[in-house]
Amino acid sequence: MNETSAGKIMLVGIGPGSVEHMTQRARDAIAEADVVIGYVTYIKLVADLIEGKEIIRKSMTEELDRAVSALEAARAGKKVALISSGDAGVYGMAGPTYEVLFQSGWTPDDAVQVEIIPGASALNSCAALVGAPLTHDFCAISLSDLLTPWPTIARRLDAVAMADFVVALYNPKSGRRTRQIVEAQRLFLRHRRADTPVAIVKSGYRRRQNIVFTTLDHMADADIGMLSTVLIGNSNTFVRHGLMVTPRGYANKYDMEEGGATRDGERAGRSLSTGLLGWLDTLQAEHAAGDSIELLAARHRLPADYIRATLEEPWEAEAPAAEESEA
Ligand SMILES: C[S@@+](CC[C@H](N)C(=O)[O-])C[C@H]1O[C@@H](n2cnc3c(N)ncnc32)[C@H](O)[C@@H]1O
Repeated sequence: MNETSAGKIMLVGIGPGSVEHMTQRARDAIAEADVVIGYVTYIKLVADLIEGKEIIRKSMTEELDRAVSALEAARAGKKVALISSGDAGVYGMAGPTYEVLFQSGWTPDDAVQVEIIPGASALNSCAALVGAPLTHDFCAISLSDLLTPWPTIARRLDAVAMADFVVALYNPKSGRRTRQIVEAQRLFLRHRRADTPVAIVKSGYRRRQNIVFTTLDHMADADIGMLSTVLIGNSNTFVRHGLMVTPRGYANKYDMEEGGATRDGERAGRSLSTGLLGWLDTLQAEHAAGDSIELLAARHRLPADYIRATLEEPWEAEAPAAEESEA
């Protein structure tokens, strides 16, 4: 134990589970800790760094216990490394730890310091293994109903399926939770094509790594387990030469087959002609031509009250801004 410094809790994200994909700060934090707390599998992954340290191994369901143990040790002046796979702030220990800290009356100016050390989350690691599926808007949904009501999960699945996000499903299936992935598939198929690309990465960057490409209609039949992440593409995602890619949208503005020439009506560094301002022009023209709010709402798949407010509120085109990067 380091007697001279105040206690500290370090929430260490160790990445997917291979030493090469752990950050230097994660390694340093584990090396400087007096106490290392974590799920047994993750402790094994950093076995070379923890010799001579106090080790508190906890099982999967003891997250709050782990946070309480960390706080007790830190209050006793120790430096504690609380290990999470991936990133500690993504379905990890960072949230439960702050909840336990706040409940104990801790504030950021307390003698016990807290540091969160970011790591590559499963969605980063799994995406890297299958190509470039997350290069447009995406979100993560956990199918675990251990702490979240199913209607909440189902509503989120339905919303993001409808809104055409690329989705990373965490905790998709376990020995006891086998039906959730089937329900997720059912909800997605209400909005998405059956041949939407899906990649399933099991144990990414670990010894038993397994990658399967499939489609939405076959997703639930695949080999999926506790250590799998399921990546569902959006309506533009494709698989070519064994790589899953979601286009950034360059083809909307540039003719890729014509050497990247800008398409008619488009300008580099400016919003698309169907960007906000162009779309408002279209909407006004359609409405002026007699299309009802309800018809416009259905056509653009947006709420009628949003269409109404957009048409009713006068707006002025902003002065052209400086060229932007195409983000
Ligand atoms: C409790 S969450 C922890 C997530 C972690 N904090 C992160 O940022 O990746 C556990 C889920 O993460 C995903 N996961 C974690 N490590 C993985 C890996 N090496 N390969 C694939 N999926 C992984 C799986 O979906 C698993 O069910």
